[in-house]
Formats: sequence, structure tokens, C-alpha cells
Amino acid sequence: MSDFTETNRKYFDNLAASYKGQFADAQRMLSAETVQHRNWISNRWTDTEAGKDQEIKMLEYACGPGVISMSLAPFVAKVIGVDISDNMIAEFNRNASSLGLSDKVVGYQADLLAEDAPAQDIESACTNLDLVTVSMALHHFEHPDRALKRLAKRLNKGGACYIIDLVAHSGAHGHGHDDHQHEFAGAAHTVKTHGFSHEDMQQLFEGAGLTIGFEYKILPEPLRFSTEERSFSKTVFIARAQLK
Ligand SMILES: C[S@@+](CC[C@H](N)C(=O)[O-])C[C@H]1O[C@@H](n2cnc3c(N)ncnc32)[C@H](O)[C@@H]1O
Repeated sequence: MSDFTETNRKYFDNLAASYKGQFADAQRMLSAETVQHRNWISNRWTDTEAGKDQEIKMLEYACGPGVISMSLAPFVAKVIGVDISDNMIAEFNRNASSLGLSDKVVGYQADLLAEDAPAQDIESACTNLDLVTVSMALHHFEHPDRALKRLAKRLNKGGACYIIDLVAHSGAHGHGHDDHQHEFAGAAHTVKTHGFSHEDMQQLFEGAGLTIGFEYKILPEPLRFSTEERSFSKTVFIARAQLK
């Protein structure tokens, strides 16, 4: 694990227990937007013509407690959550269990962006995917371009990639300045990229062979966050494309 990734691991290991409570409003909104956009994200679900009679499998990378996994679990056969933080994976598996989803939703601690392949069981769980998703984590990756390339390789042909992240240089109130470092002061050292524009995402997807049906949407409502000192909001996008 690189030093930067290790910094992220430590930071999120410490945050894991309080994460869900601290970001409850944002998590609710991401869940609602994801379910609402399900057929925009992919056409392969257990209840759609394209997914019928198939074992639809999704990976949520950098899953944290797994809000996207738990929201989409009813529509797939198998969900794999992977995160570098053990404590986040413990939260993920606890959430799956309390929702009665442990038979199809399983979390593993691993670094899928490292040079070395993960353990064999994780490697085989994370191949032949129909959907790979990364929510609010691409800005924490040291090399987002490499990350998307590696993750896209795990998709079946025509499989979809769904990304949620912060819009580049978007101030909470339209003043054109993204104050991420100040607002998440304690997290500044874990952030590599201060958001992604439409063009950034198109380039990242194309570089990973995700060239079919690219779309990027800015969500109409910003995500709201509160810390002990202040409340603020962040403009967020969702983007999708399929592997050629
Ligand atoms: C802001 S949280 C987002 C969690 C969740 N996806 C969500 O939307 O609530 C960022 C997550 O990315 C994970 N993370 C950061 N860098 C990572 C990396 N290189 N590989 C895997 N996970 C990583 C952290 O451990 C943390 O769980």
C-alpha cells in the first residue's frame, strides 16, 4: 500500500464507527438518487429484460459502510464491497447483516489498486462484474485514471461503471470556489483531486475503455454536511458509461 493510501486507510479506520451517523443526510440523498437512477446506471438488473436469467454481480469499491451496495442489493444477485479500511468493512458487513442481506452482500478488506493481485478468493469475487461503482471516493485515490482502468478490467463486456463524486471547483453557493480543504479540514491530507468536471470524467472513462453511453449529471440538490463548527453543502455529480 502506498503512503498516500495508508494515510487514507488510517483516517477512515478512525472515522468508520461514526461515519453513518455523521453523514446520515448525505447518505440518504445518495441512496435515493441512486435508486431513482437505477435504469440510467445500467439496464442489467434481476427484474429487467437485459438481466433476466443472469447472475448480476456488482462491486462497490471504496464502499465504506455501503450505502450504494445496500440500496442496489435488491436488484442484483451478488454485491461485493471492497475497502482498504478494516473498520469500514466491519461496518459494511454489519449493515448487510442487519438488513438480512448477508447471503448476497459481502465485504472484503483489500486494495484493488495496488500492483499485487489480492487474495485469490477476493480476486475471483471481483471479476466478471456487471456493475462497478465508486461513491464519494474517487477524489481520495492517488491515481484516479489508473483506478478506473483497473476497475473497468473487472467488468464483463457491456458492464456499467457508476461514479458519484464532487463537482470540480463548485462552491456550495455558486461562488465558484471549492473550499473542500477548509470544510473537511481534518481530511485535507486524504484528498488528491478537488472534484471532477464533465470533461475530467469523460477523459477518465474513455481512458478505461468505458466508451459507451457516457453521461454526467449534476444533482439538483447539493449534499449537506454538518460539523461541530459549521454546516455547508457540496455540489455532486453522478456519471455512468459502459465497457466497450
Ligand atoms: C468518503 S468515504 C465514502 C464511503 C462510501 N462509498 C460512501 O459513499 O459513503 C471514502 C472511502 O474510500 C475508502 N478509500 C480511500 N482510498 C481508498 C483506496 N485507495 N482503495 C480503497 N478504498 C479507499 C475509505 O476507506 C473510505 O471508506
